[in-house]
Amino acid sequence: MVRTSRREFLKKAGASLLAVSFGGLIWRAVDQGVFSTGKGPAYELWSEDETSTLSDPMAMIQAATLASNPHNSQPWLFRVRETSIEMYADTTRNLGTMDPLLREMHMGLGCALENMVLTAAARGYRTEIRYFPKSSDRSYIARVDLAPGTIESSPLQQVISQRHTHRGAYDTEQALRPELLQQLHDTGLDKSERSVNLIWLTTEEAKRRTGELVISSTEAIIADAEMSHDSNRWFRGDWDDLQAHRDGLTLDAQGGAAWIRAAGKMLPNVSHDSANQFWLKSTRQTHVHTAGAYGLITVPDLKNPEDRVKAGRVWQRIHLKGTVEGLAMHPLNQPMEMRDRELHLHNLTRPFGQQLEQLTDQAGEEAIFLFRIGYPMTSVHPSPRRALEDVLI
Ligand SMILES: Cc1cc2nc3c(=O)[nH]c(=O)nc-3n(C[C@H](O)[C@H](O)[C@H](O)COP(=O)(O)O)c2cc1C
Repeated sequence: MVRTSRREFLKKAGASLLAVSFGGLIWRAVDQGVFSTGKGPAYELWSEDETSTLSDPMAMIQAATLASNPHNSQPWLFRVRETSIEMYADTTRNLGTMDPLLREMHMGLGCALENMVLTAAARGYRTEIRYFPKSSDRSYIARVDLAPGTIESSPLQQVISQRHTHRGAYDTEQALRPELLQQLHDTGLDKSERSVNLIWLTTEEAKRRTGELVISSTEAIIADAEMSHDSNRWFRGDWDDLQAHRDGLTLDAQGGAAWIRAAGKMLPNVSHDSANQFWLKSTRQTHVHTAGAYGLITVPDLKNPEDRVKAGRVWQRIHLKGTVEGLAMHPLNQPMEMRDRELHLHNLTRPFGQQLEQLTDQAGEEAIFLFRIGYPMTSVHPSPRRALEDVLI
């Protein structure tokens, strides 16, 4: 009979415990998608192979669903007709108190529309857009009529599946050339969207004021229980939940280092309070601190839904052009979210509205969308997208 000394027994017991807990960790890591970043059904629409096998209308809708959109709520529905595609707002996907005027929802739909039109051209169609074609149905956002045309595959269309929101740190050593910003301006504001304007905020003073406003509005959102709730409910901390919903904000899309994302996935779901503090810290230390410049999109009348959709088209074009040029971009709409909240609650002092007006500094223009821009230091990961059959009516 083999006799085990007490010391040997303890060693073996320790080793097996370690093996069990390591096994448990590995299991949790696999379960929470630590080794599956960007994989699974929630990400399949980003794969390029799929594009080539899709029919023309389906390829246009696929491109539309890859667009930038608020909180990745994907607030769209599409109906395919013989010679047209109709786009509707899915109002059940509105961000509630974070977007009481539907500014962001309409902009996200504009982003989808832009991707659709670019892909139609690449598939050889001429397009004609009618905004809000039925006055009795404000959720009917646009009808895109398709007619045979010439194949025009633009550089913007070619990077539709490579564009991602970059929430990581930007390279503060690499300056943005004014000519490059001018090119982004000209590409974004193509002649069809005359009502939309873009202001670059590049001086140290303008950047300081903008950064302070972004931070104070983030604090205000966190302090507003309803807004904080409506924002956090789109966070998908659980891998199964993410793969099932195929929408919302994920850890992988936050732009952190691989080990931070892995650790975040392994931990049990964090409280809203911890998530808020993480957001505020990243806003201060990463988003604002490393912003190369800010871009502010404006329109003459914030309340005009058509202009909001057009502003979305402009943002999508700017982001695609930035992708072509190897730039990173990240919307920071907290000041607008607070301004809209003030308007909705009839807050007469309007502290955020007033500060935005000072930033815009152009008579007759209203701020509709703010983003930071710079050179990326790391690559970023895609966000989930719902299946095509789920966005068709
Ligand atoms: C109108 C609008 C507002 C947005 N606001 C923010 C924002 O304030 N902060 C942020 O991190 N991302 C913002 N985004 C980016 C979306 O969260 C992002 O597009 C979405 O999660 C999908 O990810 P993707 O752009 O990587 O495909 C906004 C996008 C749109 C269209």
